[in-house]
Amino acid sequence: MERTFLAIKPDGVQRGLVGEIIRRFETKGFTLVGLKFLKPSRELAEAHYDVHRERPFFAGLVEFITSGPVVAMVWEGDGVIASARKIIGATNPLNAEPGTIRGDFGVNIGRNIIHGSDAPETAQKEVSLWFKEDELVDWQPDIMRWLH
Ligand code: TYD
Repeated sequence: MERTFLAIKPDGVQRGLVGEIIRRFETKGFTLVGLKFLKPSRELAEAHYDVHRERPFFAGLVEFITSGPVVAMVWEGDGVIASARKIIGATNPLNAEPGTIRGDFGVNIGRNIIHGSDAPETAQKEVSLWFKEDELVDWQPDIMRWLH
C-alpha cells in the first residue's frame, strides 16, 4: 500500500491547526500509520530539504522548520501521495485554491503550514528519514468491529 510523509510545520502547530489538518486526511479515507511530535534538529531539517540547499530561501526555510515543534506523520492509502498534495494545495498559499489546506489557512509562501512528499521516491526517502521502521504501525481500520 502506498505511503506518504506529511508534516504540520511550526506555524500550523502554533496556530492550533493540528486537529483540523489531521481531520482532513482521516475523513478523506487515508490511514495514519506513523505519528510523532518533535522539534526537528538542524541536521534533520537540512537533510529533509537537501534538494533546496543551493536556493536563496534555504537558510530561512531551515530556520523556520527548526523554530518549534512539528507533527510528523506517515499516511497510507491508494494514491495517497498525489491526493495529499491536492488536499494541501499549491506551494504559495496565495495561489492555492480555497478548500485546500494552504488555500484555506495561509497567505505566505514561507509560512505554508504543511509539507507533503511530492513523488514516490521522495515519499520513501522522507518516511525513512523521519521514522524508524518499528515506529510505523501496520494496521487496517475495521469500523464495524468498533461500532458493535
Ligand atoms: P517546494 O518543495 O518547492 O514546495 P512544496 O512544499 O509545495 O513541496 O519548496 C519547499 C518549501 O520551501 C516550501 O514549502 C516553502 C519554501 N519555499 C520558499 O520559502 N520560497 C520559495 O520560493 C519556494 C519555491 C519554496
